[in-house]
Amino acid sequence: MSITMKCSLLLLVIVCTLLSHTTGKPNPKCTYKPDGDNQLSIDVTCKNLDLPRGVQLREVLGEVDIAHLTVTHSNIQLLSADLFTKLATTLETLTVRHCADLTTIENNTFVEFGALKSLDLSKNNISITLDGEEFRSLKNSPLESIDLSGNAISLLPSQMFRGLNALENIDLSNSKISQIQDTVFDHLINLKSLDLSHNQIAQVGTNVNGFPFSWNQRLQLLDLSYNKMAAVQVGISIQQSLTTLNLSHNEISSFNRKPFTVPPMLQALQFMDNLKDLDLSHNNLTDLPLDIFYQPVNTLFVKDFGISSTSKVAVNLAGNPLHCDCGFYTFWEFLQSAECRLKFSFKNGVCDQPMGVKGVKAAAVDMTHCAPKTGQSVKVN
Ligand SMILES: *[C@@H]1O[C@H](CO)[C@@H](O)[C@H](O)[C@H]1NC(C)=O
Ligand SMILES: *[C@@H]1O[C@H](CO)[C@@H](O)[C@H](O)[C@H]1NC(C)=O
Ligand SMILES: *[C@@H]1O[C@H](CO)[C@@H](O)[C@H](O)[C@H]1NC(C)=O
Ligand SMILES: *[C@@H]1O[C@H](CO)[C@@H](O)[C@H](O)[C@H]1NC(C)=O
Repeated sequence: MSITMKCSLLLLVIVCTLLSHTTGKPNPKCTYKPDGDNQLSIDVTCKNLDLPRGVQLREVLGEVDIAHLTVTHSNIQLLSADLFTKLATTLETLTVRHCADLTTIENNTFVEFGALKSLDLSKNNISITLDGEEFRSLKNSPLESIDLSGNAISLLPSQMFRGLNALENIDLSNSKISQIQDTVFDHLINLKSLDLSHNQIAQVGTNVNGFPFSWNQRLQLLDLSYNKMAAVQVGISIQQSLTTLNLSHNEISSFNRKPFTVPPMLQALQFMDNLKDLDLSHNNLTDLPLDIFYQPVNTLFVKDFGISSTSKVAVNLAGNPLHCDCGFYTFWEFLQSAECRLKFSFKNGVCDQPMGVKGVKAAAVDMTHCAPKTGQSVKVN
């Protein structure tokens, strides 16, 4: 059979299916097109739909099996189970975006959504209630991605994602989040990407010893850029899977260590064996204490790196007020060393002080005069 014949046959099937499923006229504010993967269902995209309280989307859209539904710029105020009556069971993708009046998700909204893989509720005005039950009814769905960015979410109740164990991507960027509770991401063992950028987060975990990502052992991308963190906490250290850690545009001036614990001397970046990108740009670092990368070893001076991947780690230090005086010597010496050239590339580290070297690349400042006299060891911070 020729390709054109196959295509026209396929088209015929889709048109017939559409006709047989449709009662009444499709809504003119919506576009209807066949779902590429599934000949028995269609994609619907609606703009400026009038959806007063109590209306069912099914009445507005007609009797078609819909796989992917997008609603934008609608006057919708509330997501409820009623809204999706006789519609939910076939939906694989639901997008409701740019609806400025949408503030609330009812508890049981997603009860019938047994096939949902992707939920995009970005750029509305949604807030999450204290009991965090909004997504509970999705707990038996195959949901892989949830995008809640650009809403009015200020707190993340510990129950919020409970039971959504298929989740791989969570986007909570551009919200009003100031704190990450210790247990909110628990049980999400398939999580690969977590975007918490553009929030007000000062601390990850309810105390400095919290480990909010301890369940997420497949996490590859953690974006905490544009937040208010003053220190890198050990709480983000146990992600062996992490390839990108974005801490740019915070107020980081130090790295928390956890002395006298088991394992001893837990350091901020110690277990990140697969790290490729560490973005520390636009922070408040005057120095980079090298032991943040070190394994817990009996002696502080053995250069046995926690980061054991064969590929390089790119560390971005742009926009930090580095102090390139003799206190910086250990780091400078490291920049010249074979270990550094083998494992790390430091991007854009420029001196801010002393005045004589302001604007000079940190690696290029000559610090040989700071070298300790032979016989002495250099102390690592
Ligand atoms: C949602 O469910 C919880 C418990 O299941 C209940 O306490 C809460 O009142 C419900 N919220 C709404 C808005 O119905
Ligand atoms: C968002 O909702 C809150 C009430 O929850 C309201 O006070 C605020 O004006 C809304 N913002 C916009 C941009 O509509
Ligand atoms: C980190 O986030 C900033 C701001 O969004 C972005 O410009 C930068 O490319 C990111 N860095 C990495 C390594 O992904
Ligand atoms: C940066 O760190 C210095 C101390 O090194 C502190 O005085 C200053 O307030 C910090 N700036 C910000 C924006 O956190």
